[in-house]
Amino acid sequence: MRTKIRKNSHSKVTKDWFNSWSNEYDNTLGRISFHAELLTMVAKQSSVKNNDKVLDIGSGTGLLSLKLLQKADCKITGIDNSKEMMAIFRHKIRRLKLTSEITCKLMDADALNFKKETFDKVVSSVTLHHLKDKKKLIRQVYKILKPGGVFIIGEIDMDTTGKHNDVNRLKRILKVLEQQWISAMKNAGIDAFIRLYDNGKKHIFNQGEYCISLKQWADLCRKTGFDNVTTRRLLRYKGSGVVVAKKK
Ligand SMILES: C[S@@+](CC[C@H](N)C(=O)[O-])C[C@H]1O[C@@H](n2cnc3c(N)ncnc32)[C@H](O)[C@@H]1O
Repeated sequence: MRTKIRKNSHSKVTKDWFNSWSNEYDNTLGRISFHAELLTMVAKQSSVKNNDKVLDIGSGTGLLSLKLLQKADCKITGIDNSKEMMAIFRHKIRRLKLTSEITCKLMDADALNFKKETFDKVVSSVTLHHLKDKKKLIRQVYKILKPGGVFIIGEIDMDTTGKHNDVNRLKRILKVLEQQWISAMKNAGIDAFIRLYDNGKKHIFNQGEYCISLKQWADLCRKTGFDNVTTRRLLRYKGSGVVVAKKK
């Protein structure tokens, strides 16, 4: 019997997934080296400076925001649509006494509710692939960035577009998932592996996961009007990397 793939309510699937993962997130994905290296690259490529106003889209438990604060005394707004992920981040903010540096808002990245030209930097790590309408997202980010502002996208470099029964598409995806699975098992053990293994099926069938390649992200940014767009892959994990796009 063929498994039915539900085509609707994918954003609810994603919310439920992260709500249920929140308590183990830092101990699973948070301990895997490809993720740590990606956060380091995003922070470095952001060239964040003191007093910069930064938006972190899909801030989760705060791993990227906290990394940025190690680089500069900036002001961060973190948005996420998972209550449980945000509760963990808020708890950390209070514990670390960072309430003047970081503000959290429960918000969907599909409907960014900020005035135009608000931020110097918009950053995001392994979140934006959850959005189906990438063009809409990039247009919104362009609008809320100040002139000269920078959009920094840390993402999986995996083109999952195409037909689900295309064997070449499957091979392309499995090459990237293999890197993630091995890294999960090596760095964080069986629990992290199980999480990412389960997640792999969601990527293959685009169940709340709509990864595109870094080149596809870069092309979309250029088409939206961003100037000077660059891409870089991680040295050890070629299946992830960073796109940096500057607004004129
Ligand atoms: C893999 S986690 C990444 C968290 C953090 N950026 C990091 O690198 O550790 C993805 C996060 O994006 C959030 N997310 C997914 N889709 C979203 C959406 N449409 N709007 C806002 N947040 C979303 C999830 O709730 C989750 O916290």
